Amino acid sequence: MFMDLLNKVKAIVDKNAPLYSNLSNVSAVLNELGNLNWCGFYIAQGDTLFVGPFQGDVACVRIPFGKGVCGTSALKQETIIVPNVNEFPGHIACSSLSKSEIVTPIIKNGTTVGVIDIDSPVYSRFSDKDKEFLELVADSLKELF
Ligand code: SME
Repeated sequence: MFMDLLNKVKAIVDKNAPLYSNLSNVSAVLNELGNLNWCGFYIAQGDTLFVGPFQGDVACVRIPFGKGVCGTSALKQETIIVPNVNEFPGHIACSSLSKSEIVTPIIKNGTTVGVIDIDSPVYSRFSDKDKEFLELVADSLKELF
């Protein structure tokens, strides 16, 4: 399933299209992971993340590096899996539906250019398999930035 979705991501990306077009389609593919209430992108501008294309409810527009799960992942440049969002200090609750979350940074030439953020309405939704998958997705998208 993960390999199918990764191949789908690679197949739909059009290197001559704008970033927002590609990330919109990729967010639709990520939504196929299932059991999610939000999935999409935050894009870095300086040391702030701004919401990008996504599937789900209205989200926070900006998140400073170092804040919340997204900002922490962007700053540390590592994937963060949060089994229970209530137990993550500083978690930013955009939706009361979210119970667990995974965030993977997109890193280009050593700089965080954005993050992939996925929320689930169930606890402990995300595993190391999701992490591995999202890191491959992030790697395949970095050249678009
Ligand atoms: N929960 C995230 C904020 C973004 S929303 O989940 C879409 C965080 O703590 O960074």
